[in-house]
This record gives sequence, structure tokens and C-alpha cells, in this order.
Amino acid sequence: MTLDLSHITLTYPDGSSRLTALDDVTVSVPAGTVTALVGPSGSGKSSLLAVAATLIIPDSGRVVVAGNDTTRLSREELTDLRRTSIGTIFQQPNLLPSLTAVEQLQVVAHLAGTPAASARARGLELLDAVGLADRADHRPHQLSGGQRQRVNIARALMNEPAVLLVDEPTSALDHERGAAVLGLLTALTRERRTATVLVTHDRSQLGGVDAVVEIHDGAVTARSELATTG
Ligand SMILES: Nc1ncnc2c1ncn2[C@@H]1O[C@H](COP(=O)(O)OP(=O)(O)OP(=O)(O)O)[C@@H](O)[C@H]1O
Ligand SMILES: [Mg+2]
Repeated sequence: MTLDLSHITLTYPDGSSRLTALDDVTVSVPAGTVTALVGPSGSGKSSLLAVAATLIIPDSGRVVVAGNDTTRLSREELTDLRRTSIGTIFQQPNLLPSLTAVEQLQVVAHLAGTPAASARARGLELLDAVGLADRADHRPHQLSGGQRQRVNIARALMNEPAVLLVDEPTSALDHERGAAVLGLLTALTRERRTATVLVTHDRSQLGGVDAVVEIHDGAVTARSELATTG
């Protein structure tokens, strides 16, 4: 298992009391597989991703990323773990307007201390993997919405993360482009052996995933394993 979330409980301050956003949630994601996380608005999906990303420390429970028990790590060690082992892809690509596609990727490698030349080579290789080899020197405004999201995906893979966390990556795209982005994410998960969690509202696009976890009011209400190739 590359991502293990066990017995996660998370509350937020809510007036004079606390709101329980996650209630004893346990999810394990093996390397090379995609687990889809589905549930209504406000059910806790993004909160669970934030806990998995070690951006929020839960009230209780354990998060193990690539064998590292995060409850034992200092803040500095967590920052390091996020840089080296966790890739995140959110709804909006959040690309830097002044940088070309390949430069967006090089920034991430630079922050992780990778030498510039090898960072550029890896950036170009990943842009090729997401079908954008001929767009490496384009800036975000010169790219379509689907192309921007593909740069975002390539950027998340730049530091070879063990865990890939994806929140509604297709909500800004039409159905066809959304399906293409999900197909790409599934293929990259298999190829790069990431443990991928995919939050989605669109049940019609769950064809390629390995498992589905349903969450309601912060609790897991159903889980199903689908035909797995991982
Ligand atoms: N920072 C916060 N402070 C207080 N309450 C919060 C905070 N973030 C989220 N919540 C609450 O926690 C619950 C879960 O929110 P979360 O964002 O995880 O839901 P979600 O499943 O991602 O919803 P959506 O599908 O709309 O994105 C909601 O009731 C929300 O209002
Ligand atoms: Mg959300």
C-alpha cells in the first residue's frame, strides 16, 4: 500500500461547537491503482484529500504515505514529504501566467533541488507523455482548458510522487475533454505506479478506476472494487 488512511476523524470549529467533516474514515490505495471518491457536496471529499496531502492534521487517525507515518514527522519533514512524494491536481490548473508549459514544470523541480538541465529534460518528457510535446513553449493563455489541465497533470508528476491526489479535475471541461483527462490520469497511474485518489461527481466517468469509495456526511457508506489491472 502506498497510501493508507486509517480511522481519520476531522472536525472544524463551528460557532460554539465543532462540525465533524470526517468520521472514522479508512481508505487504502495500492500503487498503480486509482480509487475514486464520490459523494454529495459537503460530504468531506476535499477534506479527506487535504488530510492525505498532509495539509490538514486530523483530530485522530493515521496517514501513511509511501511507508512514512506522517504523525511522526516534523513540519519540515512534512514539507519535504509533500515535495518529494505527493502530487496534487485541483479543479483549476493554477498555472503561472508568465511561464511556458515546460517552465511550469521546471519550477517544481527547482523547489525540490533538481539540477536545471535534467529538470528541463524531464519536463519535456512529461509534456510528451500528456500529449503536449508541441506546446512546451506556450504560455497558459495560448493553451486550451484541456491542455492547461494536462500541463497541471504533468506538473504534479514532476517529482515522481508515490501518491497522486486529484480533486474534480474535469469540472471545467466538457464531457469529451473530461473523459480524455480521466483516461490520461488512469494510464499515467498504471505507468508511473502512483497511488491515485480521484474525487469526482461524474459517475459516468468511473470506467477506468480500480475502486470506488462513497462518502456521506464524512463517513464511508460503500466501497466497491472494480476489475483491476493494477
Ligand atoms: N475550513 C473549513 N472550516 C469549517 N468548515 C469547513 C471547512 N472546510 C470545509 N468545511 C465543511 O466541512 C464539510 C466537508 O467539506 P468538503 O469541502 O470536504 O466537502 P466536499 O465533499 O469536498 O464538497 P464539494 O463536493 O462541494 O466540493 C462541509 O460541511 C464544509 O462546509
Ligand atoms: Mg470539494
